[in-house]
Amino acid sequence: MPVPGEELRQAMRRAAAPVAVVTVDAGNLKYALTVGSLVSLSLEPALVGVSIGHASQSHTPLREAGRFGASLLAGDQAAVAQHFARSVPPIALWEGIALRESRVPEPLVDGAVAWLECGVVGEYEAGDHTVFVAEVLSIELGRDAPALVYVGGEYRPA
Ligand SMILES: Cc1cc2nc3c(=O)[nH]c(=O)nc-3n(C[C@H](O)[C@H](O)[C@H](O)COP(=O)(O)O)c2cc1C
Repeated sequence: MPVPGEELRQAMRRAAAPVAVVTVDAGNLKYALTVGSLVSLSLEPALVGVSIGHASQSHTPLREAGRFGASLLAGDQAAVAQHFARSVPPIALWEGIALRESRVPEPLVDGAVAWLECGVVGEYEAGDHTVFVAEVLSIELGRDAPALVYVGGEYRPA
Protein backbone atom coordinates (compact mmCIF):
# COMPACT_ATOMS: atom_id res chain seq x y z
CA MET A 1 0.00 0.00 0.00
CA PRO A 2 1.36 3.48 -0.83
CA VAL A 3 1.90 5.89 2.05
CA PRO A 4 -0.62 8.74 2.48
CA GLY A 5 -0.05 11.59 0.00
CA GLU A 6 0.56 14.08 2.82
CA GLU A 7 3.54 11.99 3.97
CA LEU A 8 5.04 12.21 0.47
CA ARG A 9 4.40 15.96 0.35
CA GLN A 10 6.18 16.47 3.69
CA ALA A 11 9.22 14.46 2.55
CA MET A 12 9.47 16.16 -0.86
CA ARG A 13 9.28 19.61 0.79
CA ARG A 14 12.74 18.97 2.22
CA ALA A 15 14.32 19.18 -1.24
CA ALA A 16 14.17 22.32 -3.40
CA ALA A 17 12.01 22.23 -6.51
CA PRO A 18 12.34 24.84 -9.26
CA VAL A 19 9.15 26.84 -9.75
CA ALA A 20 7.63 27.52 -13.17
CA VAL A 21 4.38 28.88 -14.54
CA VAL A 22 2.78 26.65 -17.18
CA THR A 23 0.48 28.51 -19.57
CA VAL A 24 -2.07 27.30 -22.10
CA ASP A 25 -3.61 29.14 -25.04
CA ALA A 26 -7.23 27.97 -25.41
CA GLY A 27 -8.22 30.61 -27.95
CA ASN A 28 -10.15 33.35 -26.15
CA LEU A 29 -9.12 32.09 -22.73
CA LYS A 30 -5.56 31.67 -21.48
CA TYR A 31 -4.91 29.39 -18.51
CA ALA A 32 -1.95 29.18 -16.14
CA LEU A 33 -0.78 27.46 -13.00
CA THR A 34 2.31 27.35 -10.82
CA VAL A 35 4.15 24.03 -10.97
CA GLY A 36 7.04 22.41 -9.16
CA SER A 37 7.00 19.32 -11.35
CA LEU A 38 8.54 20.59 -14.58
CA VAL A 39 11.58 18.40 -15.29
CA SER A 40 14.04 17.90 -18.11
CA LEU A 41 13.59 14.31 -19.35
CA SER A 42 15.75 13.94 -22.47
CA LEU A 43 18.26 16.00 -24.43
CA GLU A 44 18.11 14.22 -27.84
CA PRO A 45 15.33 14.91 -28.52
CA ALA A 46 14.76 17.74 -26.06
CA LEU A 47 11.88 16.59 -23.85
CA VAL A 48 10.37 17.88 -20.63
CA GLY A 49 7.70 16.45 -18.35
CA VAL A 50 5.14 18.14 -16.16
CA SER A 51 2.54 16.61 -13.85
CA ILE A 52 -0.83 18.40 -13.81
CA GLY A 53 -3.60 17.60 -11.31
CA HIS A 54 -6.92 16.44 -12.72
CA ALA A 55 -8.61 19.11 -10.56
CA SER A 56 -6.66 21.97 -12.15
CA GLN A 57 -8.71 24.18 -14.43
CA SER A 58 -5.73 24.06 -16.83
CA HIS A 59 -5.85 20.26 -17.17
CA THR A 60 -8.48 19.88 -19.91
CA PRO A 61 -7.37 22.98 -21.86
CA LEU A 62 -3.79 21.68 -21.85
CA ARG A 63 -4.91 18.27 -23.05
CA GLU A 64 -7.00 19.84 -25.83
CA ALA A 65 -4.34 22.38 -26.89
CA GLY A 66 -1.61 19.72 -26.99
CA ARG A 67 0.96 22.35 -26.18
CA PHE A 68 2.00 24.75 -23.42
CA GLY A 69 4.41 27.49 -22.49
CA ALA A 70 6.62 27.43 -19.41
CA SER A 71 8.18 30.43 -17.66
CA LEU A 72 10.97 29.43 -15.24
CA LEU A 73 10.57 32.00 -12.49
CA ALA A 74 13.36 34.17 -11.09
CA GLY A 75 14.16 34.39 -7.38
CA ASP A 76 12.28 37.70 -6.97
CA GLN A 77 9.04 36.34 -8.48
CA ALA A 78 7.49 34.62 -5.44
CA ALA A 79 4.42 36.88 -5.75
CA VAL A 80 3.92 35.64 -9.32
CA ALA A 81 4.18 32.02 -8.14
CA GLN A 82 1.63 32.69 -5.38
CA HIS A 83 -0.70 34.38 -7.85
CA PHE A 84 -0.78 31.40 -10.22
CA ALA A 85 -1.12 28.91 -7.36
CA ARG A 86 -4.57 30.34 -6.55
CA SER A 87 -7.56 29.10 -8.46
CA VAL A 88 -8.57 32.33 -10.22
CA PRO A 89 -10.98 32.24 -13.19
CA PRO A 90 -8.96 32.66 -16.41
CA ILE A 91 -10.75 35.89 -17.24
CA ALA A 92 -9.24 37.54 -14.12
CA LEU A 93 -5.97 35.61 -14.06
CA TRP A 94 -3.88 38.05 -16.06
CA GLU A 95 -4.68 41.29 -14.23
CA GLY A 96 -1.47 42.91 -13.04
CA ILE A 97 0.78 40.30 -14.66
CA ALA A 98 3.49 41.64 -16.98
CA LEU A 99 3.83 39.46 -20.07
CA ARG A 100 6.76 39.07 -22.42
CA GLU A 101 6.46 40.07 -26.08
CA SER A 102 6.75 36.81 -27.98
CA ARG A 103 5.67 35.00 -31.16
CA VAL A 104 4.70 32.01 -28.97
CA PRO A 105 0.87 31.79 -28.63
CA GLU A 106 0.96 30.99 -24.91
CA PRO A 107 1.40 33.94 -22.53
CA LEU A 108 4.95 34.06 -21.13
CA VAL A 109 5.60 35.74 -17.79
CA ASP A 110 7.97 38.71 -18.03
CA GLY A 111 11.12 38.71 -15.88
CA ALA A 112 11.61 34.93 -15.85
CA VAL A 113 15.04 33.27 -16.20
CA ALA A 114 13.97 31.17 -19.21
CA TRP A 115 10.92 30.41 -21.35
CA LEU A 116 10.06 27.15 -23.10
CA GLU A 117 7.55 26.48 -25.89
CA CYS A 118 6.45 22.85 -25.61
CA GLY A 119 4.43 20.42 -27.78
CA VAL A 120 2.87 17.43 -26.01
CA VAL A 121 4.00 14.04 -27.37
CA GLY A 122 2.71 11.76 -24.62
CA GLU A 123 0.26 11.67 -21.72
CA TYR A 124 0.50 9.25 -18.82
CA GLU A 125 -2.12 8.89 -16.13
CA ALA A 126 -0.48 9.01 -12.70
CA GLY A 127 -3.06 8.75 -9.93
CA ASP A 128 -4.81 12.11 -9.51
CA HIS A 129 -2.42 13.78 -12.02
CA THR A 130 -1.56 13.43 -15.71
CA VAL A 131 2.11 13.50 -16.67
CA PHE A 132 2.49 15.38 -19.94
CA VAL A 133 5.68 14.66 -21.89
CA ALA A 134 6.50 17.40 -24.38
CA GLU A 135 9.06 18.30 -27.02
CA VAL A 136 10.75 21.61 -26.42
CA LEU A 137 10.06 23.56 -29.63
CA SER A 138 11.88 26.77 -28.69
CA ILE A 139 13.79 28.27 -25.78
CA GLU A 140 14.49 31.86 -24.85
CA LEU A 141 16.83 32.78 -22.04
CA GLY A 142 15.87 35.63 -19.73
CA ARG A 143 17.68 37.32 -16.89
CA ASP A 144 20.94 35.83 -15.65
CA ALA A 145 19.55 35.87 -12.10
CA PRO A 146 18.88 33.36 -9.29
CA ALA A 147 15.94 31.05 -9.95
CA LEU A 148 12.92 30.61 -7.68
CA VAL A 149 12.74 27.35 -5.72
CA TYR A 150 10.16 25.99 -3.29
CA VAL A 151 11.61 24.29 -0.23
CA GLY A 152 10.36 23.75 3.30
CA GLY A 153 7.01 25.21 2.27
CA GLU A 154 8.65 28.54 1.30
CA TYR A 155 9.82 30.29 -1.85
CA ARG A 156 13.53 31.11 -1.95
CA PRO A 157 16.00 32.39 -4.54
CA ALA A 158 18.67 29.83 -5.45
C1 LIG B 1 5.20 25.40 -5.25
C2 LIG B 1 3.99 24.83 -5.90
C3 LIG B 1 4.12 23.83 -6.84
C4 LIG B 1 3.00 23.28 -7.47
N1 LIG B 1 3.18 22.30 -8.41
C5 LIG B 1 2.11 21.80 -9.05
C6 LIG B 1 2.28 20.84 -10.09
O1 LIG B 1 3.39 20.42 -10.43
N2 LIG B 1 1.17 20.36 -10.71
C7 LIG B 1 -0.09 20.80 -10.37
O2 LIG B 1 -1.06 20.33 -10.97
N3 LIG B 1 -0.29 21.72 -9.39
C8 LIG B 1 0.78 22.24 -8.75
N4 LIG B 1 0.61 23.18 -7.78
C9 LIG B 1 -0.76 23.60 -7.44
C10 LIG B 1 -1.30 24.60 -8.45
O3 LIG B 1 -0.47 25.73 -8.63
C11 LIG B 1 -2.70 25.04 -8.00
O4 LIG B 1 -3.45 23.92 -7.65
C12 LIG B 1 -3.44 25.72 -9.10
O5 LIG B 1 -2.90 26.92 -9.47
C13 LIG B 1 -4.88 25.95 -8.63
O6 LIG B 1 -5.56 26.63 -9.62
P1 LIG B 1 -6.17 25.91 -10.91
O7 LIG B 1 -7.33 25.09 -10.47
O8 LIG B 1 -6.54 27.09 -11.71
O9 LIG B 1 -5.12 25.11 -11.57
C14 LIG B 1 1.70 23.73 -7.13
C15 LIG B 1 1.56 24.74 -6.17
C16 LIG B 1 2.68 25.28 -5.56
C17 LIG B 1 2.51 26.37 -4.54
